[in-house]
Amino acid sequence: MSSAKPLLVVLGATGNQGGSVIAHFLSVSPSSYALRAVTRDPSSAKATSLASQGVEVVVGDFDDPKSLDKAFDGASIIFAATDFVQLMLSASLRERAAATGEPPGFYIRDYEAQQNKNIIDAAAKVTTLDRFIFSGLPNVNKLSEGKYAHVYYCDSKALAEEYGKAKYPQLWEKTSVFYAGFFLENLIGEDGAFRPTLNKSKDTLIAQKGEPLTTVLFPWYSAVQDTGPFVAALIHAAPGQKLLGVNQWLSLQDIYKIMAHTMGKAIRFVDSTPTISIGDPEFQRAHKGLIGFSVEFGYDGSKVDKTVLRPEELNKSIRLPSVEDWIKQQDWDNILQCE
Ligand SMILES: NC(=O)c1ccc[n+]([C@@H]2O[C@H](COP(=O)([O-])OP(=O)(O)OC[C@H]3O[C@@H](n4cnc5c(N)ncnc54)[C@H](OP(=O)(O)O)[C@@H]3O)[C@@H](O)[C@H]2O)c1
Repeated sequence: MSSAKPLLVVLGATGNQGGSVIAHFLSVSPSSYALRAVTRDPSSAKATSLASQGVEVVVGDFDDPKSLDKAFDGASIIFAATDFVQLMLSASLRERAAATGEPPGFYIRDYEAQQNKNIIDAAAKVTTLDRFIFSGLPNVNKLSEGKYAHVYYCDSKALAEEYGKAKYPQLWEKTSVFYAGFFLENLIGEDGAFRPTLNKSKDTLIAQKGEPLTTVLFPWYSAVQDTGPFVAALIHAAPGQKLLGVNQWLSLQDIYKIMAHTMGKAIRFVDSTPTISIGDPEFQRAHKGLIGFSVEFGYDGSKVDKTVLRPEELNKSIRLPSVEDWIKQQDWDNILQCE
C-alpha cells in the first residue's frame, strides 16, 4: 500500500497490546500514520475487522524471518510484542522442551527470545525506520543474581533486548522499550486467576488476603485500553527510553476494595491466597517467581535498575481512564462465581 503518511507496522495487532496500539491510532483524527497489522491469519475475525476499518492487514510469522522482512517493508515505526503464553501452551513445543530434561519453561523462554531476535534482525534491515518500540520486560534472573530463575516470560524478552542492543547499536538508537505493567485483563481471564468470589446472596465480595500476593504493589494497567496511549507517547518522545506501562500501583487487596465499592457490595477478607494460575505448574512457578521478584526488586526491577521511567517521568502527557473506570466497565456479576 503506498501512502504519503508514515507507516506504523504493528505486530500482535490482533492481540491485547498490538490491538490497543491500532485502536489508539484509529481513534486519532486526522490519523498521522498509515497502519499495517501483521497476523498469521488475515482471515480471522479480528484481522478482517481491522481490514474493515481501513488497516492494511499482512501475513507475518515471528518464526519466519522472510515474512517479517516483507511485513516491515517501508515501515517508519514498528511496534513489536510477542506471546509467551501461546508458546507455553503449545503441545509440540512442550514435547520438544520435555526432551531437554530441563524445566520446560527454559526452552520456551529461549524460543520466545528467538522470535524476538527474528523481529529485531528484520527491523535492523529497514532503511526507512525511524522508531522501533519493543515490548520487553526485565531480566529477572540477571537482576536477582539467579534467585528468581524461572520468570521465563520476562527473561525471554530481556534476552532479546540485550541481543538487539549489542548487535544493532544503530537500531537501538531508534529504539524505545515498553515494559507492560500487570494486565487488569488478568482479572477477567479464562483461568479465573486472582478472582474473588461472591457469597450466595451476592451482596458480599469474598476476597483472599494471603501475603505476599495480595499485599505487594503491582503496576496495574489495561493492556487493551492503555497500551496505545503509552506507545503513542513513546513514539512522540525522544528514542532510547524505557517506560513502565503503569496506570496505578495497587495491591490486589486495593483492587478488591475498589471492586466491592464500584459494585456496591460489602467485602469480607478470608485468610487464604488467590489462585495465581490453574493447571500448569510451570506457569505457577513463573508467577511465584515474579511475585517474589516484585516484593524484593520491584516488578520492573527498579530497586536495582534505575533506567525504567514511570509515565510521569517521560515528559509527555498520557491521559488514561482510571483503574476504577476499567473496573466499573466489567460485568462482574457474570464474571465472578458464587461460593
Ligand atoms: N498478563 C500480564 O499481566 C502481562 C504483563 C506484561 C507482559 N505480558 C506479556 O504480554 C504478552 C502477550 O501480549 P498480548 O496479551 O498483547 O497478546 P495476545 O492478546 O495473546 O495476542 C497475541 C498476539 O501475538 C500474535 N502472534 C502470536 N504468535 C505469533 C507468531 N508466531 N507470528 C506472528 N504473530 C503472532 C497473535 O497474532 P495472530 O494470532 O493474529 O497471528 C496475536 O495478535 C506475553 O508475552 C506476556 O508475557 C503479560
